[in-house]
Amino acid sequence: MPDPLTASFPPAFLWGAATSAYQIEGAVREDGRTPSIWDTFSHTPGKTAGGDTGDLAVDHYHRYRDDVALMADLSLSAYRFSVSWPRVQPTGRGPAVQVGLDFYRRLVDELLAKGIKPAVTLYHWDLPQELEDAGGWPERDTAYRFAEYAGIVGEALGDRVEQWTTLNEPWCSAFLGYGSGVHAPGRTDPAATLRAAHHLNLAHGLGTSALRAVMPARNQVAISLNSAVVRPLSQDPADLAAVRKIDDLANGVFHGPILHGSYPPSLFEATASVTDWSYVQDGDLAAVHQPLDALGLNYYTPALVSATAETAAGPRADGHGSSDHSPWPGADDVTFHQTPGERTEMGWTIDPTGLHELIMRYTREAPGLPLYITENGAAYDDKPDPDGNVHDPERIAYLHGHLSAVRRAITDGADVRGYYLWSLMDNFEWAYGYGKRFGAVYVDYATLTRTPKSSARWYAEAAR
Ligand code: FCB
Repeated sequence: MPDPLTASFPPAFLWGAATSAYQIEGAVREDGRTPSIWDTFSHTPGKTAGGDTGDLAVDHYHRYRDDVALMADLSLSAYRFSVSWPRVQPTGRGPAVQVGLDFYRRLVDELLAKGIKPAVTLYHWDLPQELEDAGGWPERDTAYRFAEYAGIVGEALGDRVEQWTTLNEPWCSAFLGYGSGVHAPGRTDPAATLRAAHHLNLAHGLGTSALRAVMPARNQVAISLNSAVVRPLSQDPADLAAVRKIDDLANGVFHGPILHGSYPPSLFEATASVTDWSYVQDGDLAAVHQPLDALGLNYYTPALVSATAETAAGPRADGHGSSDHSPWPGADDVTFHQTPGERTEMGWTIDPTGLHELIMRYTREAPGLPLYITENGAAYDDKPDPDGNVHDPERIAYLHGHLSAVRRAITDGADVRGYYLWSLMDNFEWAYGYGKRFGAVYVDYATLTRTPKSSARWYAEAAR
């Protein structure tokens, strides 16, 4: 019997799953690929749980055919993956390596042959190390390098891939990579964080133009943002001001220039002691403010904040890992609180109302722009039972709750065209290594055998 909830979605709704290159591919030294910042970071002692790296990951580079067959078995209508920049342009500049591009050509052909819509993300955090050595995202030139790379991939795959995403969660690249340092390249410099954010915005804009210059006009270009749902601890004006500050640093810093062509003035005020923003050059905002065909939203959990008189000490409850350095420049007067309620293995509170709120916000702020949920999902401590089956009722409940929120938003007038579960299969969860399992498919890391969990079967039924 089809689930009445999932059966009520529009017929063209995409039922997808998502992954990213460094988290699944492995084959880090093959076919001319050079190190990315994540190779360097994960090989630096103390940076990832258990010293885990993506060297082998789940070996998708060699097993992609079986993985696509699995997707077909699960009746997925779409698959979101990312291209590894150092695999197709090892030094981050100059001509492409065709064998690297060939991997993605074969992957896309395999997907299309099975009737699965490919959705390409150009950048899911694996900057070529050579570009980081030249200054990384705080350097303006990195944005130009990204545009060149976007043109290369657009030319190679634009004839057969319609859905394009420039950047995945630029917030994490800038604020976790250069602010708190829990992500590669692991720098902890508040001013560099905001410079990185601006150059990521510029990269998005220039990359969008570069894609459009080489691709058929029917293709859709989007960006995937992990826009935060920020709630106040109380209605006290100081707590509302704290919400405003975090909202600017999490959301306004990206959707301001991308959707509206300007940074929020309150962001400039709040960060005045950190940076003067003089790297925003004439013409940049127009370059960033490209018309988009869609917007990708990644959602996991909401944030709860208050104002505080003293600098918050100890671990922050913002859900972004532990570091002595805050990822929030200019917001030392804001405290993050644990949102009440049941949590996943990541410690993230389960709250589907946040997803509904987020969708409705962008429905208001970007009227007419189709929305995709490009990531949503949960980590649980999944284990096979003696028969080798993996039962994950908590994940089914999580997905059901969040899909209900999407359905409700559609009823309320939102134009949501698809949902990509994070993740297709268990994989390298960045600084958490392989300890956190987000997959609908279980991966035995000793044998790399894939076993669909009960959530995968449930989702397949929904997709059908
Ligand atoms: C998102 C990332 C994705 C994965 C999930 C759990 O922030 O885009 O790669 O790590 O979180």
